[in-house]
Amino acid sequence: MNGFVLRGAVCYNASPTTFDAREDAYVVCHDGVSAGVFDEIPPDYADLPLVDCAGKLICPGLVDLHVHAPQYTFRGTGADLELLDWLNTYTFPEEAKYADLSYAHQAYGYFVEDLARSATTRAAIFGTLHVPATMLLMDKLEATGLKTFVGKVNMNRNSPDYLADGTAADSLAATRAWLDGVEARGYSNTRPIITPRFTPSCDDELMSGLGRLAHERGLNVQSHLSENLSEIAWVKELCPWSSCYGQTYARFGLLGDEGPAGGKAIMAHCNYCSDEEVRLLQAHGTYIAHCPQSNTLISSGMAPIRRYLDLGMNVGLGTDVAGGASLNMFRAVSDAVAVSKLRWRCVDQGLPPLSIQEAFWLATCGGGSFFGRVGSLVAGYEFDALVLDDSGIRTPRHLDAAQRLERFCHLSSEGGRIAHKFVAGCQLF
Ligand code: GUN
Ligand code: FE
Repeated sequence: MNGFVLRGAVCYNASPTTFDAREDAYVVCHDGVSAGVFDEIPPDYADLPLVDCAGKLICPGLVDLHVHAPQYTFRGTGADLELLDWLNTYTFPEEAKYADLSYAHQAYGYFVEDLARSATTRAAIFGTLHVPATMLLMDKLEATGLKTFVGKVNMNRNSPDYLADGTAADSLAATRAWLDGVEARGYSNTRPIITPRFTPSCDDELMSGLGRLAHERGLNVQSHLSENLSEIAWVKELCPWSSCYGQTYARFGLLGDEGPAGGKAIMAHCNYCSDEEVRLLQAHGTYIAHCPQSNTLISSGMAPIRRYLDLGMNVGLGTDVAGGASLNMFRAVSDAVAVSKLRWRCVDQGLPPLSIQEAFWLATCGGGSFFGRVGSLVAGYEFDALVLDDSGIRTPRHLDAAQRLERFCHLSSEGGRIAHKFVAGCQLF
């Protein structure tokens, strides 16, 4: 039998409101999949090797549902502007540098090494529009064992000359060449995802071609939706035929779940969705990537995540580096709770704030289901797990396992350490 048993204090969600915390338990990995969490090792698994992490915390791996790899270079700077000026001033000039493969090699090297060491086990990642640099990013990610979706970005309007795909036909041809290159590489961890930057960057012809390409090849889609008020007003001007921003994707089959060959879609932010837009996202099963640090730093807004959860929508968390400064998904959990409390206090007392366990669910199962049965330690889930050493976050008090995980979410950078990481049953470190 192929597998192992992990011992430690175990915390995981079975649902948004069902959080299991055990002080001393065993998690069994069998053929890359969890066989469950037990108080004693079941006789069937008694012969598996034991990885004894007594005293440490074990939890599912975290899923970053929205991050921009090329923006890692300027993370933590440039939060003095709002989205559209931020893109023109900081983001586009930086992304243009990835035309140079030696720059991409160095910058993506840092991003991928840091992501591999982080709490993230799976991620949906934007590259740039450059095909060679995006292939290089995918080669580097593949070697880590992390499971990722990576997108060559499409942008053919309202983009600077130094960072544009040309015509819709040029952009689609480059995307096809990239997809063919990816197929030839035969990756096992790294999958392509169709990535129109956002509606202001892609004309209708390009959107329509990308929708057809996603459908033809059974690919998933990622983009941005209703992040910032000026952006939303601009989309209304660019697409007068649309009754909401979401329609500018839905019309071209880019919100996911369109027939048997259709894939899924992630829309980052959704800070200001109208009722019509919410119904559209519900009808398509679209994933919302909530990025609380980005929404705060570039002053975008506060997404009504409680509303989306009450409606049973698909919601996960993202870092959105470099709108967000930190790649640390524990930080995203902490920020999701904090932003929900401010929203409740300042905007709408009808939407109660998120509990830490609900935010943890978003970061694990919420985003995890985009990748399959991912995000829990319940039997049948792919075995993505972190072993956390919290001994450096010192206190004389006795804390139970749930309190230790809560503290790790808020204080991971103040003495927390990720001791081991497993993805689909493989130990990365
Ligand atoms: N909308 C279009 N492009 C971007 C981007 O790079 N970051 C964020 N946060 N929003 C966007
Ligand atoms: Fe983004």
